[in-house]
Amino acid sequence: MKNILNTNQMNLKPASFSDDILKDWIENEAWNEPLAKKADAIRRQSYGTEVYFRGLIELTNYCKNNCYYCGIRCGNPKVDRYRLTYEDIMSCCEEGYELGFRTFVLQGGEDPYYTDDIICQIISGIKHAFPDCAVTLSIGEKSRESYQKYFDVGADRYLLREETSNESHYQLLHPESMSMKNRQRCLKDLKEIGYQVGAGFMVDSPYQTTEDIIADLRFLEELQPDMIGIGPFITHKDTPFAKHPSGSVSKTIRLISILRILFPNALLPATTALGTLDPLGREKGLQAGANVVMPNLSPAAVREKYNLYNGKIYSGDESAQARKQLEKRVEAAGYHVVNTRGDVAGFQVMNTCGDVAESHGVNVHDKVSDCHAENSHNENSHNKSSDYHIENSHNESSNYHVTDVNKTFTDCQKGKES
Ligand code: 5AD
Repeated sequence: MKNILNTNQMNLKPASFSDDILKDWIENEAWNEPLAKKADAIRRQSYGTEVYFRGLIELTNYCKNNCYYCGIRCGNPKVDRYRLTYEDIMSCCEEGYELGFRTFVLQGGEDPYYTDDIICQIISGIKHAFPDCAVTLSIGEKSRESYQKYFDVGADRYLLREETSNESHYQLLHPESMSMKNRQRCLKDLKEIGYQVGAGFMVDSPYQTTEDIIADLRFLEELQPDMIGIGPFITHKDTPFAKHPSGSVSKTIRLISILRILFPNALLPATTALGTLDPLGREKGLQAGANVVMPNLSPAAVREKYNLYNGKIYSGDESAQARKQLEKRVEAAGYHVVNTRGDVAGFQVMNTCGDVAESHGVNVHDKVSDCHAENSHNENSHNKSSDYHIENSHNESSNYHVTDVNKTFTDCQKGKES
């Protein structure tokens, strides 16, 4: 380990961090403290002590993909599959709104049952009922046209982890039907359309090397996402990676700090995976530079079915209903929860007159030129989402039940077993 006390290297501009420095930081535990200290100082400049909560709604655990690491892969016959209806989702949002959530994250497997029309109905239903809330989608790889449709009815953000930025590593984690090229195409499309985009990767996923992580950091430097989600890989016993050990909490924490140093304005979650491997994982993540927590807002009956990995926490302080306890924990860690949309620093929410209704982060004026793009997005989505009638979505949502839900899934499984 080099230069442990030479914190000068942290005064360099992000672009000048060499691969050697990054490798040293990633691999050596002795860096945890100095990196966390630096990262915390940077997050305080960008966001003060603010922590943003997101209500996570796990839409469906059907998935047409067969990623080797993931518990809800279509090749896992042991999963008790479910889908939420429009009404289920709206009542999660109602409950979440009462609890103070102003961002709803719709996450799910890649489930073709949710056509673009259905997704658009859900988005416009939420935006219509809760116009002061942000909608984040995390529903996987789609065509640019689909991403555009979701954006046009009001979706604000999109989470899609790149998973890895090394082609051969990508192929070790995914079946042949998936490609890194398409993953990156999706991220590029999302950025160009105007979403606040989230990327990220698992720490210590099977076969991952330090060089792979550095490749991810370089990819992220190029993409400049607004959000970056990382968490340790956690073994799931019913996947091809059942024998691979879970990742390191300490390395994940170190990487959160590195991300904060490289991306001062990014929204960085202290993830559920981190909280699953270490009961204090989320607090440690916040103290190392993270500023987002995503409590579970899914209906209680489905939470244990959305198992990407073993041991996932979904009750106790993790549930959205226990928000007060979680707020206390955030405060004990030295931060405070705010009930706003929690957009990326510099982002300004315009009201329909084009005036700034809300601004976020301390460095608001750094990104004034971005306002025009955001402005047109907000006006655009406002208009279009109110064109989209709520009655329409209600009526059509009752069709959800008549579709042969299992057919789609069986089709997905064909030819996708590893
Ligand atoms: N361990 C940790 N994270 C996982 N994910 C999927 N499977 C696992 C696992 N076994 C992550 C992936 C995906 C996100 C939704 O969850 O990075 O993008």
